[in-house]
Amino acid sequence: MQDGSHVITSLCFSSGANGQGAVVFLFVYARAVIVSERVTLITGASAGIGAELARVFAARGHRVALVARRADRLAALASEIAAGGTAAPIVIACDLHAADASDKISAALAEAGAEVEYVVNNAGYGLFGRAAELDRADQLGIIDVNIRALTDLSLRFTDSLIRNRGGILNMGSVAGFLPGPGMATYYASKAYVLSFTEALRQELAPRGVRVTLVCPGPVPTEFQNRAGFKPGFDSAILNVPPAAVAKQAYHGLMANKRIVLPGLGIKMVPTALRFFPRGFILGAVGRFQLRKR
Ligand SMILES: NC(=O)c1ccc[n+]([C@@H]2O[C@H](COP(=O)([O-])OP(=O)(O)OC[C@H]3O[C@@H](n4cnc5c(N)ncnc54)[C@H](OP(=O)(O)O)[C@@H]3O)[C@@H](O)[C@H]2O)c1
Repeated sequence: MQDGSHVITSLCFSSGANGQGAVVFLFVYARAVIVSERVTLITGASAGIGAELARVFAARGHRVALVARRADRLAALASEIAAGGTAAPIVIACDLHAADASDKISAALAEAGAEVEYVVNNAGYGLFGRAAELDRADQLGIIDVNIRALTDLSLRFTDSLIRNRGGILNMGSVAGFLPGPGMATYYASKAYVLSFTEALRQELAPRGVRVTLVCPGPVPTEFQNRAGFKPGFDSAILNVPPAAVAKQAYHGLMANKRIVLPGLGIKMVPTALRFFPRGFILGAVGRFQLRKR
């Protein structure tokens, strides 16, 4: 990301003391101001929790940059947000499976003259079934989106996050706390997000960057259909609406919380798990999830 102050300095020196120098300086200064417009980058903003996160950030005055594959959905959300009076969102239609996704996102932001203040790595999906029977490429795609893209985008904008004393909000899951037979790749991907995000938080804290992990339990979104859940698989008692998850996540990030566990029932899960041997949990989750297939 280009730093406006460097541009000013270099052109001040090169323009010399002639009359044109002042004009060049003013032009470059104006451009530098535009370049430094701060945005919140939100992945997976076309649906579910991500769309609600975009609404929450925008309602609190943040300009948002929306990433997902479904451009029509992003455009509709951008219009809705702009109609509410906040700065028009930047729409970046992009497939996070692609290895060069973060290059594309970075280029789109540079072209829009935006500098990242907050990164919200929300995009993700899971697949329900026995790992050996599910499509292998689809499972590797979980690693691309839930792990690789999240890591890439967490690291890509570190300089501007430090400059703006901003932050990173990573979407984990309560699934990250336990092994998940019946959704093995998904649970493992969220265990990575948990470990990576906590470590990154520790490393970036002295640089003034807050890093927060969100670990929801069941949230009624398109996630369940995409994963191939049968109706009624998720516990309705533990369900938390996506708008409530987004609100709690936003406040958690602003308060620099290490972890946000939306909903009363979910708050107890990490503590409760400590009382059981891992082998017991493994068996229980396997029996529950594989039985429900
Ligand atoms: N719902 C739950 O019960 C639950 C519980 C715990 C954690 N979570 C986590 O919450 C996050 C959001 O899930 P959700 O419940 O809101 O699900 P959702 O309604 O299915 O939304 C998923 C979002 O991710 C985007 N996405 C998926 N693959 C993508 C790709 N290859 N490239 C770009 N964007 C992609 C989708 O956009 P496009 O399809 O338009 O690309 C969509 O905007 C995920 O990380 C999920 O693991 C969900």
